[in-house]
Amino acid sequence: MRRKFYVRSDASRGTSLQRRIRTLSALERKEEAKAFLNTFHDASGHGRTLRQRRWAEVRSDLRRHGYYEHTLEELAFGARLAWRNTGKCIGRLPWESLEVNDCRKLTSPDAMAARMVDHLREADSGKGIRSIISVFAPIQGDAIPTWIESGQISRYACHTLENGRTLGDRQNAESTKLARSMGWTPPEEPGAFDLLPYFMRDPKDRRIMIDAPVEAIRQVDIRHPQYPDFDALGLRWYAVPLVSNMIMTIGGVDYPCAPFNGHYMCTEIASRNLADAQRYDLLPQVARAIGISEGSSLWQDVALTELNRAVLQSFQTARATIIDHHKASEQFMTFHSREQARGRRVAGDWRWIVPPQAGSAHDVFHLKMRNFHPVPNFYRERGTDGLRLMPWYGDNYRNRVSGWVDRVQRRWKIWKRMAW
Ligand code: ARG
Repeated sequence: MRRKFYVRSDASRGTSLQRRIRTLSALERKEEAKAFLNTFHDASGHGRTLRQRRWAEVRSDLRRHGYYEHTLEELAFGARLAWRNTGKCIGRLPWESLEVNDCRKLTSPDAMAARMVDHLREADSGKGIRSIISVFAPIQGDAIPTWIESGQISRYACHTLENGRTLGDRQNAESTKLARSMGWTPPEEPGAFDLLPYFMRDPKDRRIMIDAPVEAIRQVDIRHPQYPDFDALGLRWYAVPLVSNMIMTIGGVDYPCAPFNGHYMCTEIASRNLADAQRYDLLPQVARAIGISEGSSLWQDVALTELNRAVLQSFQTARATIIDHHKASEQFMTFHSREQARGRRVAGDWRWIVPPQAGSAHDVFHLKMRNFHPVPNFYRERGTDGLRLMPWYGDNYRNRVSGWVDRVQRRWKIWKRMAW
């Protein structure tokens, strides 16, 4: 583990995390707490005395300190709700089975890094990949805990070669430079799939570099069942996507460090990570390897499909859980109708839910969706997705007037937050 000071250009604007977190007024925070606790108590079938006692506690904590602490049950329920409410995720069907690991007491970078190793091992312990979230300390007032800056724990480096070409995942070009500047030495012979260290920030906003937990990261070699030339491309990808830089918000409490994992859908790797021009840009090579000429009509479609086939089969052979986009779409439809049957609308972002491959062949393509950004949820920063988040009462409407009033209020709140 190596440390380095991060020099801020403008300290008065707060740390890099303070610039990302949602800014809520005391009233808004109280409203979110109340709305969350109500949902929690409804779901757990708690009676009135219990509710009132808990609310009295939370309200007085909020008044005195400006924050409150979740019980273990509230935290577990809230994390599952945050997943259920994530408009961009197609894989929400098993939201109730999310395993929540309470790591709020682990505050030192070493302990957090050790937990990440365990998290990866637990998620991929042999019987299929399990969805797990490790929840570290929340933000309490002005006090900021250590958090993870990198988008994922496993990432591949991007090397710039002498001829000016790049080798690796171009998305991580900046991180690779940063890692080098902090003393990371790339392998003697740089490859396209070299695991990169990840970064944390401590409460003083100092950057900490943590070596990639190589022993705990399982990687799958991507081969094609029919084309031996394809195997010569030497492609691979890691089995567990462990997303580490999204802020989880539950009942007015923000958890800036709550890394979670799911399992992959094949298009994430095959149609995006390996194919996007600003990532691995491999379609021309794949086309050559499967013997079609670049420029023949629809060559990209064929290459994309074969790349997907290769990823899917390689993961299946390695017994690393993966789902194809058609199955994922079906599961989302099941999730959608189940939620509706329980009287809940599903928040969905069409641009994210519809897979990047075979669009209209999926039922989700023809499904009308709206993202109304309910809390609890996950977000990246207040300027983009954070400021739109607020409690959703739409499922309780008895009449059209209250629905209309709520819509106007939402608009007003969003406008007010943007006007800051
Ligand atoms: N799209 C990201 C990647 O390709 C992973 C995002 C989370 N994906 C998931 N299936 N839970 O690495």
